[in-house]
Amino acid sequence: MQNKSIQVKGLQKSYKQHQVLKSVDFEVEKGNIFALLGSNGAGKTTVVKILTTLLKADSGTVTLNGFDVASKPDNVRQVISLTGQFAAVDEILTGRENLIMIAKLRYLGNPRQVADDLLTRFGLTEAADRRVSTYSGGMRRRLDIALSLVGKPQIIFLDEPTTGLDPEARIEVWKIVKELADGGTTVFLTTQYLEEAEQLADRIAILHEGRIIADGTLSELKKLFPSAKVEYVEKQPTLEEIFLAIVGKKEAI
Ligand SMILES: Nc1ncnc2c1ncn2[C@@H]1O[C@H](COP(=O)(O)OP(=O)(O)OP(=O)(O)O)[C@@H](O)[C@H]1O
Ligand SMILES: [Mg+2]
Repeated sequence: MQNKSIQVKGLQKSYKQHQVLKSVDFEVEKGNIFALLGSNGAGKTTVVKILTTLLKADSGTVTLNGFDVASKPDNVRQVISLTGQFAAVDEILTGRENLIMIAKLRYLGNPRQVADDLLTRFGLTEAADRRVSTYSGGMRRRLDIALSLVGKPQIIFLDEPTTGLDPEARIEVWKIVKELADGGTTVFLTTQYLEEAEQLADRIAILHEGRIIADGTLSELKKLFPSAKVEYVEKQPTLEEIFLAIVGKKEAI
C-alpha cells in the first residue's frame, strides 16, 4: 500500500455546467513514470491542478505520499513540485539567479551550491549568467524543470513538458525524466505526444470524456488490441493506433 505515491478515487470537477472530470481513478507507484494522455480539453491540466493543490475537486479523494490534498495541502506541497504547461521562469533574471531565488524561497541552506549543481546537471553552466530572455525554448524548459527540482521533491508533475520542443531538446528532457525516476522520484506527466508516453512511461492512462478509459503498461494496452496479421508479418499496434481506436476519433490528436 505504501508503495503508492499517488492515489486518486472518484475525482469529479465541473466548471459551471461543464463537467470536465466525471469520475477519475488511478494510482501511481513510487518511482514510476505515469503518463496521462488525452486530447485538448480532456481535463489533463485540471487533474494536475487538483493533485498539486491549486484547484479544489468537487468530490473524490486524492492522496499523495499518504497525505490527503484536501485536508493536508501543506504536507502535500512539501513533497511535490510542478512544472506547469507554460514556462514559469523569470525572463529578466539569469538562469543562475532564477535557481538561487527559488532555493532562497524554499529556505535551503546553500542556495548558490544548489544552483550550481542543477546548472551542471541540466547542461546550463555556460548559459548560467545570461538572461533567460536569450535562452532557446529547450534551454528554458530545462531551466523550468531544474527549478522544480530545487529542494528534491518526491513527486514531480510535468504538464506537457516537451510541447514546442524540437526532437533533440525533447530527447534531452526524456533523459532527465528517466534519471529522476531511476533516482526514486515519482513522475506524473501529461502529454499529447504518444511517442513520449511510449518512450518514458511505466504506466499510461488515457483520459477521455471525464474518465480514465484505459490504464496499464504499454504491453498491457497493446494486448487490448489483437495484433493484426499481415501475411507472415505480425504487426504490433502503435500507441497512436491504440489511442485512436479507444478515443475513436481522428481529430483527437
Ligand atoms: N477555469 C476554467 N473555467 C472554465 N472552464 C475551464 C477552466 N479551466 C479549464 N476549463 C475547461 O475545462 C476543460 C478541460 O481543460 P484542461 O485545461 O484541463 O484540458 P487539458 O486536457 O489540459 O487540455 P490541453 O491539452 O489543451 O492542455 C476544457 O474544456 C477547458 O475549456
Ligand atoms: Mg493542459
